[in-house]
Amino acid sequence: MVGETRRLLIISDIHSNILGLEAVLKDAEQYGPYTDKLCAGDIIGYNANPAECIEKIISENFTAVAGNHDRVGRGDKVSDFNWLAEYAIEKTQKELKSKHINYLQSLEKIYVDPTMKFLLTHGSFGKGREDCYIFHEQDAFGVMQRRLDFNNDTSEGVIIRIPLGIVGHTHIPLYASGLFQKIKVAY
Ligand SMILES: [Fe+2]
Repeated sequence: MVGETRRLLIISDIHSNILGLEAVLKDAEQYGPYTDKLCAGDIIGYNANPAECIEKIISENFTAVAGNHDRVGRGDKVSDFNWLAEYAIEKTQKELKSKHINYLQSLEKIYVDPTMKFLLTHGSFGKGREDCYIFHEQDAFGVMQRRLDFNNDTSEGVIIRIPLGIVGHTHIPLYASGLFQKIKVAY
């Protein structure tokens, strides 16, 4: 709708921590209501409650993308997975039923909002760079430019107009804004 104000609730890297997820959602209530609930991936991995976390994300109507742990959990091959993450994912897979795997398989690596106001992915923009980390302004500068080649189906002319990129993966809150030559970063 033209002129509609969007209020986004953005979470990421839940990593099977249902107590943490419930606490965050409870805390977020005071800032709502939200027009969009977004999860930038890694619903599962590491902690004890992957099935409960997936069910909560579904029941709360989040739009989610597939993180590296979600992709391994559903059976994809992902490079650069550390021993602890691998150990945890074996435990995780034993907890998941087919409905959970089906949900993980339904997740894309990138979500482009229909209004073209924002796009959401787990680690970084750019084809083959979805598991890269954004820690510094140089990283943010590079990846915002790489929005262009993320996806073969999306033409340059469409993607370049999307002003906001949302990612997770680092477990560190970071906001980078400004023109490409003058990006400011705040933690
Ligand atoms: Fe991740």
